[in-house]
Amino acid sequence: MNLVLMGLPGAGKGTQAEQIVEKYNIPHISTGDMFRAAMKEGTQLGLKAKEYIDKGELVPDEVTIGIVRERLGKDDCKNGYLLDGFPRTVAQAEALEVITTELERTINYVIYIDVDTNSLMARLTGRRICKECGATYHVVFNPPSKEGKCDKCDGELYQRADDNEETVANRLEVNMKQTQPLLDFYEGKGYLQKINGDQDISKVFVDVDKLLGGIRK
Ligand code: AP5
Ligand code: ZN
Repeated sequence: MNLVLMGLPGAGKGTQAEQIVEKYNIPHISTGDMFRAAMKEGTQLGLKAKEYIDKGELVPDEVTIGIVRERLGKDDCKNGYLLDGFPRTVAQAEALEVITTELERTINYVIYIDVDTNSLMARLTGRRICKECGATYHVVFNPPSKEGKCDKCDGELYQRADDNEETVANRLEVNMKQTQPLLDFYEGKGYLQKINGDQDISKVFVDVDKLLGGIRK
C-alpha cells in the first residue's frame, strides 16, 4: 500500500494520517514533521528549513526531494508507506516517480482531501498538538477532554509557530498556486482519488478507509 496524501494546509492530512497508519500499519512520512524534528535538533537541515517555514514558504525542491529519497529507501517502507505533504510541486512529483520506480515502490493512490478554502484559516489557528505523542486537536472542532492536555497520553498541548494568522495566509496562498498543476499531473496518471474533507473527521476516515479497503481485495 503505497500512498500519497494531498490537501491544502489544514485540510486534515495529519489528522487522517494518524488513523490510516494505525489501521494499515505503514510508516507515516510527513515532510513537515521531518523538518520540524530537524529544527528542534538544530541540524543544518533544520536551520535551512526554518528560513522558509517561518515565512510560510516552501522549502526548496532539492532539499525536500533529498530527504524523501533517503526515507523511502528504508526497510520499513518495503510493505508500504504514507507520504503526507509531499509532493507539493510538479518537480517533486516528477522526482517521486523516478524514486519510486527505482525502488520498485510505485504509488497506488494519491488521495486528495478536498476542503472549502474558507474553513482553513479557522482550522489552522485553532489547532493544538501534543508535545509528547504528536496527536492533533482543535479547540472547537476536535477538543481534548481536558483543556490543554492530550487524551491519549496526558501530554501538554502546544500551538505550531507557523499557525499564526499571517503565516497561515501565506501558506494558503503559496500552496493554492501549486495544487492544481499537481492534481492535473496525478489525474493524468490515473492515481488521483478525491475525498470530501468538509465532513466530520470520523466521516472523512470512513471514506478513506472504503477506498483503501478496495486495494486489499
Ligand atoms: P506541513 O507540516 O505539512 O503543513 P501543511 O501542509 O501546512 O499542513 P498542516 O500540517 O498544517 O495541515 P494538515 O492538512 O495536516 O491538517 P491537520 O490534520 O493538522 O508543512 C509545514 C511546512 O513545511 C510548509 O509550510 C513548508 O514550508 C514545509 N514543507 C513541508 N513539506 C514540504 C514540501 N513537500 N515541499 C516544500 N516545503 C515543504 O488539521 C488541521 C486542523 O483542523 C486540526 O486542528 C484538526 O483537528 C482540524 N481538522 C482536521 N480535519 C477536520 C475536519 N474534518 N473537520 C474539522 N476540523 C478538522
Ligand atoms: Zn499525547
